Amino acid sequence: MSPWFPSAFRALAALSALSAVDGYFHHTHAECRYSSEDLKDTEFIGRYVFNKLEYLRYNSTMNKFIGYTEHGVKNAERHNKEGAAERQHANVDGYCKVNAANYFKSILWHKVEPTVEVTTVKASSERHTTKLQCSAYDFYPEGIKLKWLRSGVEVKDGVTATEELYDGDWYHQIHSYLEFTPQSGETIECQVEHSSLKQPKTYKWDPSLPEGERNKVIIGTSGLVLGLVFSIAGLVYYKKKSTGRILVPSS
Ligand SMILES: *[C@@H]1O[C@H](CO)[C@@H](O)[C@H](O)[C@H]1NC(C)=O
Repeated sequence: MSPWFPSAFRALAALSALSAVDGYFHHTHAECRYSSEDLKDTEFIGRYVFNKLEYLRYNSTMNKFIGYTEHGVKNAERHNKEGAAERQHANVDGYCKVNAANYFKSILWHKVEPTVEVTTVKASSERHTTKLQCSAYDFYPEGIKLKWLRSGVEVKDGVTATEELYDGDWYHQIHSYLEFTPQSGETIECQVEHSSLKQPKTYKWDPSLPEGERNKVIIGTSGLVLGLVFSIAGLVYYKKKSTGRILVPSS
């Protein structure tokens, strides 16, 4: 949804493009200030700037234009007298508050649940045989907690983690590692706490071979079976041929 832009500013914005000649630049700046989510004290500020100098400002709290240069003061007086302030004040409801719902929904209140994977990685220490990695991808906003549970009990020993890494596309990722020696019968879980989740969510480690390894086993086994089929077929063919020769002697 594209934000609605105050109409009084649209005309001025067009003007600003025209006045950018040989490095002189005029621009107008529409600003909504929300001090709370209930929008009670929403303030609309309109700034008029030439060559980095703000010479005129509309402030909705005062419902007045204020000039900052001789030219600005003169124009502020004129605008205030001609009722331009009232027209600008309509932006508080018609522009700032209307857009706030969209901004809050899409930015402030926006939550995206992470995609979580628990995988086996090569152990780096001598002390333990197994190293697990719990990765949480593409969550929003920042602020996540990963915990390792061993049969339901949190483990802290042998745990390391990265910082929350920013992906550069609004989303974040984090990785936590657990080095340990598995015992039979226990369950290992990675527990995730994030604002997108009503309660912490756990992800179980599957101690069977990881996908890559499993594929290697499948390919290897298929090769073996195929080889056996050909050997047996060859053997059968050879047997048939040699017995055939004995049964039908030549001449
Ligand atoms: C607008 O005016 C109010 C009241 O004087 C003041 O508190 C506020 O700081 C002003 N805002 C800006 C951005 O100038």
